[in-house]
Amino acid sequence: MDNLINDILNKIEQTSDLIALDEIRVSALGKKGTLTEQMKTLGTMSPEERKIAGQALNVAKEKIAKALDEKKQLLEKLELDKRLATETIDVSMPVRPVIEGRIHPVSQVMEEILTIFAQMGFDLAEGPDIEDDWHCFEALNFPKNHPARQMQATFFMDETGDTVLRTHTSPVQIRTMENKKPPIRIVAPGRTYRCDYDMTHTPMFHQIEGLVIDKSTNMGHLKGCLLEFMKKFFETDDVSLRFRPSFFPFTEPSAECDVGCSRENGEFKIESGKGWMELLGCGMVHPNVIKNCGLDPEEYQGFAFGVGIDRLAMLKYGIPDLRSFFEGDMRWMKHYGFLPLDVPTVTSGLSFNAGVKK
Ligand code: PHE
Repeated sequence: MDNLINDILNKIEQTSDLIALDEIRVSALGKKGTLTEQMKTLGTMSPEERKIAGQALNVAKEKIAKALDEKKQLLEKLELDKRLATETIDVSMPVRPVIEGRIHPVSQVMEEILTIFAQMGFDLAEGPDIEDDWHCFEALNFPKNHPARQMQATFFMDETGDTVLRTHTSPVQIRTMENKKPPIRIVAPGRTYRCDYDMTHTPMFHQIEGLVIDKSTNMGHLKGCLLEFMKKFFETDDVSLRFRPSFFPFTEPSAECDVGCSRENGEFKIESGKGWMELLGCGMVHPNVIKNCGLDPEEYQGFAFGVGIDRLAMLKYGIPDLRSFFEGDMRWMKHYGFLPLDVPTVTSGLSFNAGVKK
C-alpha cells in the first residue's frame, strides 16, 4: 500500500502539465483506478482486516486528492503567469492614427467658417434649438399673424405656439443684443428646423448667423465682410457678389446675396462673370429690433446675415443631395468625409487635404 501511494505521489510531483495530471487522477481515483480497485477488495476481508485496510485506504485517498489539488493550483498559476508574461502591451508604443472614422462635411465646413470669422475678429455666440416666440419671431419684428411667419414653416412644440424649434439662427441676434453692450461682432452657428423635405431641404439643417452692431457700421461693411469671407471660404480671389433687394422683417434694407458661378459641362464652379447662385440673406438690422433689445436705434446700427452651412458644404465640395447628409451612411462618409487630423486653419489651408482619401 505504501509503495502504491508513494508511486502515485511521485507521479503527481513529476508532472508538469494539467492534462497529464488529470490522467493520474483518473488512473488512481477513477472508476477503474488503482485505489478504487483496492477498495473493491475490502469485501473479501474479515471485519477486523476491513476496518484497518479501509481506514488506510481512506487516508491514502485523501492524501492523493490533496496532492492532486495542490498540484493543479500550482500548474494553473504557472500557466497564468506564462500568459501574463507573453500577452503584455507596450503602452509606450506609438499608435496608428484612426483612419476609419471621418469628420462630417458639415462639421468640417463649420470649422472652416469659424476659422475665417475668428481671424476677422468675430466672437462665437450660441443659442438654444428650442426657442420661444419672443426670440424667434416677436423681437425680430415679426408682428403676430404677419404673413412672414408663414414663410418659415415652423415646428411648434405645443398648442400655445409659444415654444418652437428655431426656424433660423436669428434669435441669437436678440439674445446677444439683450446681454451685451455694443460694439458687437459675433457669428452664431447651429441647427435650425423647418417643415420641408426635398433635394435641397431637410427638416433639420444648419445656419450661421453674423451680427455686427456699433455706431457707424453700414452696408459697405456688410458687402466687404461677405466678400472677404467668400474669397477665403472658396479659396479663390475670383469671387463676385450681387445684392438683390429682398424682404426680412428684421432687416431694413434687406438683401439676398448671390455669388458668381459657372455651370459648364455639368461642373459647378465659383468664378465671376458667368452666372449667379443665390447664397444668403442679409441686411441692416431693423431699428425696431435694436429697440426690442433695449438699445437706442438713434445711437446704434449694424448689419446681419444668415447663411446655410449645409448649402455652403454642397457648393464647395460638390455634394448633390442634402438629404444624404443626415442618413448616416458610412459609404457616403468615406467618400465625402474628412480625415480627423486635417484640421482647417487659415495659414495651412482650410481644406488642405480635401479629396485625399486614405
Ligand atoms: N434668418 C434669415 C433666414 O433664415 C436669414 C437672415 C439673417 C436674413 C440675417 C437677414 C439677416 O432666412
